[in-house]
Amino acid sequence: MSYIVQYFALILTFSIVSTKNNVCPSDWDYLTIHSNPECWYDPDVDATIPGIINNYGFKSDLYNVTTWDGYIIEIFRIPSKLNEIAGESKTPLLLFSGLLADARCWLIHGEDSPAIYYAKKGYDVWIANRRGTEFSSHIKYSRNDKEFWNFSFHEMGTIDVPTVVEKVAEVSKQPGNIIFVGHSMGTTSNFVYCSTNSTHCGKNLKGIISLAPVAKLSRNRIPFSHFLAIFTEEIKSYLNSLGIYRLEIDSMFRKCLKVPLTFICSVAIKFFTGSYIFPTKMPLLFTQGNTPVSVKVLAHYGQIINSNGHFRHYDYGKKENLKKYNTLQPPKYNLENIPVHVTLLYTLNDLVAHKHDVDDLYSNLNPNKRDIVEIPRKNLGHLDFITPSNVEQDLYSEINNALKKIKNI
Ligand SMILES: *[C@@H]1O[C@H](CO)[C@@H](O)[C@H](O)[C@H]1NC(C)=O
Ligand SMILES: *[C@@H]1O[C@H](CO)[C@@H](O)[C@H](O)[C@H]1NC(C)=O
Ligand SMILES: *[C@@H]1O[C@H](CO)[C@@H](O)[C@H](O)[C@H]1NC(C)=O
Repeated sequence: MSYIVQYFALILTFSIVSTKNNVCPSDWDYLTIHSNPECWYDPDVDATIPGIINNYGFKSDLYNVTTWDGYIIEIFRIPSKLNEIAGESKTPLLLFSGLLADARCWLIHGEDSPAIYYAKKGYDVWIANRRGTEFSSHIKYSRNDKEFWNFSFHEMGTIDVPTVVEKVAEVSKQPGNIIFVGHSMGTTSNFVYCSTNSTHCGKNLKGIISLAPVAKLSRNRIPFSHFLAIFTEEIKSYLNSLGIYRLEIDSMFRKCLKVPLTFICSVAIKFFTGSYIFPTKMPLLFTQGNTPVSVKVLAHYGQIINSNGHFRHYDYGKKENLKKYNTLQPPKYNLENIPVHVTLLYTLNDLVAHKHDVDDLYSNLNPNKRDIVEIPRKNLGHLDFITPSNVEQDLYSEINNALKKIKNI
């Protein structure tokens, strides 16, 4: 009798546990995730940023910064191991995420994610956020106000980045020694920052590591992007006329956690970015890796795609440009003004940051302060910088070389 009870208890326990499954080893397994014995539960999928950081044995601090135009932005720091007493000062590494991402993207790969990997290597790791992410608010506007979403990467670069950089310099007491690591739009806003405010950039940063760098986009191979870019102004006006100033890509992605959408979303993400991405990391990408997008950011990128290889300020139309910039065309960002060493790292299967666009960007940088590195492994794409699989040798070793060089300058 008691065996029968135990048997049913076991079945019951198993079914409760298995319905909690949230990761699987292959795209196909996600179709049967709840009954599939190959799948399991990964607590990182539901965890907060401090939760994940603590899970891997590190302390996590939170700071708020407020920009002069009223955005409150939360940034995270991994100062040391749990229970470790602050020793000698470590080099601050400031991580800045890309378009659909926020601070969480640097933790998707758990123990092997860039944030934890570099904390283990003894860096003082800072993980930034920016206006528009879930970790931002405004002293006057709510997230439903159109004014809240009135920004492109220009405002991130000219306002958010220097505000965050100042906080890191102040708390770490190491102005001039910060190494900035950007991914995708994190690199775009960094190029805006260091080209428009080179004094501030030179005073605070030691060097820049740009992963999948984006300043030129005329040769990107994101499906449909060139076609859509032709209609940038029309699409923006149409969306705005419907009262849409942001796209809630994040809530769309969260739906990807449902069967059978995980499979479809996974295939779609690979198609649009050319990335490899371990199937076990897909749910983390859907929950931890994404954030709403301001329509104006997309419009600015659309303008860059159309600009024939120019990296320029936002185009408000001839009349407004004349008022704002004193020129009919928006001025370009002078990349040669960037005062510190920049290392560009790209992959060959990146549909966003194409090799020729990265070469073109490289040719605009100060010849004495630049390096360009092609990641040798063939099948890596745009997102593989934040979701590296067993690519420690190919990827992190290249980043480590770049870090070593910058530290020795
Ligand atoms: C940071 O600001 C948010 C509001 O945006 C607030 O909820 C949080 O408590 C603040 N945290 C700190 C450490 O000041
Ligand atoms: C958006 O910002 C621009 C300047 O950056 C300003 O001219 C415009 O009035 C703002 N629009 C809204 C709706 O706040
Ligand atoms: C550079 O950034 C600092 C800090 O945000 C700001 O006070 C200063 O006005 C900026 N300078 C330029 C030239 O934009």
